[in-house]
Amino acid sequence: MAPEFSTIAIHAGQEPEAATGAVNVPVYLTSTYAQQAPGKHKGYDYSRASHPTRAALEKNLAALENARDGICFASGLAAEDAVLHLLGPGDHVISCRDLYGGSYRLFRQVFEKFGLSFSFVEPNLRAIQRTLTRRTRMIWIETPSNPLLYLTDIQAVAEVARKRRILLVADNTFATPYLQRPLDCGAAVVVHSVTKYLGGHSDVVGGAVLTSRPEVAERVRFHQKAVGAVPGPLDCYLVLRGVKTLAVRMERHCANAGEIAEFLLRHPKVRKVYYPGLPDHPGHEVARKQMRDFGGMVSFELQGGAAGARRFFSAIRLWTLAESLGGVESLICHPVTMTHASIPRKERLRNGLTEGLIRLSVGIEDASDLTQDLQQAIAFACRS
Ligand SMILES: Cc1ncc(COP(=O)(O)O)c(C=O)c1O
Repeated sequence: MAPEFSTIAIHAGQEPEAATGAVNVPVYLTSTYAQQAPGKHKGYDYSRASHPTRAALEKNLAALENARDGICFASGLAAEDAVLHLLGPGDHVISCRDLYGGSYRLFRQVFEKFGLSFSFVEPNLRAIQRTLTRRTRMIWIETPSNPLLYLTDIQAVAEVARKRRILLVADNTFATPYLQRPLDCGAAVVVHSVTKYLGGHSDVVGGAVLTSRPEVAERVRFHQKAVGAVPGPLDCYLVLRGVKTLAVRMERHCANAGEIAEFLLRHPKVRKVYYPGLPDHPGHEVARKQMRDFGGMVSFELQGGAAGARRFFSAIRLWTLAESLGGVESLICHPVTMTHASIPRKERLRNGLTEGLIRLSVGIEDASDLTQDLQQAIAFACRS
């Protein structure tokens, strides 16, 4: 019988260590490994190429995403960079309008210089199909997307990608493999910012690429070694430790986020709530189809635009105003001046990223404390 998710999370890649019986994968703080003769060693020669803690994490994440290979990087963006290097000058990429600002910046400010071109479209099959060209080699989706939580039907897009031999890449950072497994829906590659839910404690930055295509894995692994944007042993250990509790944390993140989305929806001073778990969210049915639950991220717009948002941030107490997401503690962010500031204003506005938009990474504290704090900050922000 195949093991279930939490069992895989706790055990995959992590047998007790042979030499000492250590139950946790040790953190080998060494950059290099002794060789018995030139080229003859015990499996590791230099820590950029690999080290035992990273090897364990790569196996673990591959198992969680049902991938053949896992390849870890020093950040989510380093993982994305490695995947984009599968392409060359003249190649065209279709991505979605609502996208992490750092990914957008990497696409436009780094890869366009090297001859790649990018189109940013609505996250639906029709828009993607309309944008395909002879040069399209990759479709890059983020589902749910950052920060408006749009959904893309992975299976439907994968079908189009397969027929045209286009690589479908899914950024699964928001959902995590606990809620959604894109490779099982037909995607070719999954990328993660493991900084977020996989690490889960806001104490490490890292990234990962997961795939079952040997030719993709080989090239990404080559890039990992040749460029060297790799995570150290302690980083990998922290992610391995975080992943052990991923399932229980995600259950709580989802429950709290659902409660907070309902609270915001009922609030008279809130103009709009974005949460895939709400029945009138445009991606609700797709989310029900491809996700186990609706995730821990909620975005909303207060009445009062930018000034209202500023007043709200000045009054919030329990939630921390900070970049990033996916940790046990609740974080709050102003996408247009923080995570998505690198997207030109005109484009941001066209995509619905207004000055009054607030993004919540709902933590695993008690939901009643979180809603009370939102309640008092909204009351302060909207005082007439
Ligand atoms: C959806 C998404 N993908 C990728 C990244 C980049 O990851 P990192 O910050 O680990 O480089 C982020 C960061 O916020 C993100 O939100």
